Order: sequence, then C-alpha cells, then structure tokens
Amino acid sequence: MRVNGRHFETIWINNQHPAVVQIIDQRLLPFAFQTEDICTVTEMYTAIRDMHLRGAPLIGAAGAFGMYLAMVNAAGDKPEKQYITDMAGYLKSARPTAVNLAWAVDKLAHDLRNTSSREAAVETARRGALAITAIERENCLKIGQHGVRLIEALSQKKKGDTVHILTHCNAGWLACIDYGTATAPIYLAHDQGIKVHVWVDETRPRNQGARLTAWELSQHGVPCTVIADNTGGHLMQQGRVDMVIVGSDRASPYGDICNKIGTYLKALAARDNNIPFYAALPSSTFDWNLSEGAVETPIEERNGDEVRFIEGLYEGRTCSVDIVAPGVPVANYAFDITPARLVTGIITERGIVNADKKSIFTLFPENLNPVNE
Ligand code: MRU
Repeated sequence: MRVNGRHFETIWINNQHPAVVQIIDQRLLPFAFQTEDICTVTEMYTAIRDMHLRGAPLIGAAGAFGMYLAMVNAAGDKPEKQYITDMAGYLKSARPTAVNLAWAVDKLAHDLRNTSSREAAVETARRGALAITAIERENCLKIGQHGVRLIEALSQKKKGDTVHILTHCNAGWLACIDYGTATAPIYLAHDQGIKVHVWVDETRPRNQGARLTAWELSQHGVPCTVIADNTGGHLMQQGRVDMVIVGSDRASPYGDICNKIGTYLKALAARDNNIPFYAALPSSTFDWNLSEGAVETPIEERNGDEVRFIEGLYEGRTCSVDIVAPGVPVANYAFDITPARLVTGIITERGIVNADKKSIFTLFPENLNPVNE
C-alpha cells in the first residue's frame, strides 16, 4: 500500500545486504515512519514479542524470516536438526495467540530438516519465507475481492449512499504483507468508487486502531473516524453502522473467532442490532485442531504497563503518561473469543463461508483429519 505516495509492504530482505531483513517499526506510527534492520533471530524474536511488528499474518511471515536469519547465522557446515527445532521453538514462544506464527515457523522447520548444507538451508529458508509473504499477499487480495461484494450489495441497498463499516484493532496492511484482511474489501470498494466510511475503534490498550488503522486508511484516502472503544454500540443503535468487519488471530474450524480484546463486545452489540458481523482471515489463521468454542486458545497476557500508561505526542515528542489510580493492580488480556453463533460469515481467500464446521470444511476439505472430523 502507499505511504506518502510510495508503495510499501511490511517486511522484506534488503536488496544490497541479503543477511538483513527490514521491517516498518510500528511502535513509532503514526508519529514517525521508520524502517528497522533485523539481523539476527534474537532481534526478530524481540521485534515480534515487543510488537515492533504485529498482526497475525505479519508475525507469521516474520517468524519465517526469523528462521532464515537463524540459518544465515548458523555455525558449522550444516545446521543440526536440534538447532532447527530449538530456533523454531524459540520464535514460536514470542507471542502465543496468533496461530500464523506457529504455522509459518513449522512449515520452514519441516523443509529445513531435509537440507544437506548450510548454503542449502539458507536458500530453502529464503525461498520459504518469500513464498509465505507471496501467499499471504495473494490471500489478502482474494479476501478483498470476495469481501467487496458484501460492500457493493450494501451500497446498492442504500442507493449509493455511504456504507459505514466498523472495525476493531488493526487488521490492515500493516498487520499483513499488503492490503490487510478486514481492510482489503474496504480498500477495493474505495478504489472502485463505492462510498465507504470506517468507524475505527481506538483499541485500548495499545491503540492499534487510533494509531495504525486510522493512519493507513487516511494514507489511502479512505474516510474514517476514530471512536472510543465503547462507542460502537451507541452508533449501532442509531443506525450508523452498516456492517462490522474484523480480523482474527486464530479461528476454530467451528467458526469461533479469536481476535483483539473487545471484539466479542462488538459482536454482541452487532447481533442485538441486527448488523452483519464478518471476520476476514486467510486460511493460515485457522487452527484446524481447535474444539468448538476455541477453548484451548492461549490468550496472551501482556505487561500491565500497557494499560497503566498511555503513549502519545506532546509538543512534537512522544511521551507516556500514567492514567490509573496509584497502587491499583491492572490486568492486560490481549485477545478474546467471539463464538461462532455471533459471526455472520467468514471472508477467506476461497470465498465467504458460514461460521460452522460443515461449511468451513466444505471450503477447506484438505484440513479434515482424524482429530477434527
Ligand atoms: O496484538 P496485535 O496488534 O498483534 O493484534 C492484532 C489483531 O488482533 C488483529 O485484529 C488480527 O491480528 C488480525 S490481523 C490481520
């Protein structure tokens, strides 16, 4: 997507220095746009854990590039199988909830175990990481192409009046490689000349909506308004939301959607107001072995300082201020689960599907196995 008119993706190998992976440091947005060089697997682990980059598809790709860096910097003539297993385990432990990380890292680790030299391992990892970015880029575009039909239909129903879409967190191109998941249909609709406007939940505690989604939508010229997290229900009651589209970090084959904390409350409000609630996600976000309700999903608990302090710009400099009564404990759960019964449909790269097991496995039959059938 465009940043100040120039095309950017979220992760790439430096053209001149193939041992350097580059990312956009999302901690600084929207106040500064800066890229960061990542040269070691430890630096990639830190970038994922401390959210220099974030969003399920992107941390999957970052995990794959982490495996690439682990091979580039491996000692000896041939990376040992144990080293590959250790590096994969290390990267996967950076963030527990988004299943894309384990999906991508395990895919690379599997291919790497059959390589016969260090050079072959580096090349296998490089190709593997680039293939994952290509798949995710393509999948997001397809999600956009399927999802835009929903927006078109609403626009026709409203006789060309603006379609108002509410989204939570950042499931935009910054969370993926390009286009985004929840935002892909919105970008395509906007580019086709359909009038759209996005209600952007600020998304406490890290404010990915206010900081990232609002920034990337405005870079592309999509009209949007940032709202406090607890505003969505009121707007829905007033008839000012036509649909909700969110992303996901892990989805069950039953159609349960794990996403940024607060998503569940939006789904409840949408159901109470008869507003369609869609999750947009690539197949790498399905955890095919989850049970109904996605109850085994590990919900990441992050440092309470993310709740206690809020970061912003003051007189041109970023600063952080304490907003909680002194001495009172805080809790910081990063994700919640929206049960399938509240999900109108799931927008995937293969099409839009009902949030139930039969429909999902009809679209992805190759993932049926003795555990989940
Ligand atoms: O904690 P984050 O910022 O990594 O959480 C991201 C989200 O919850 C997104 O909505 C989700 O990953 C979908 S990204 C396409």
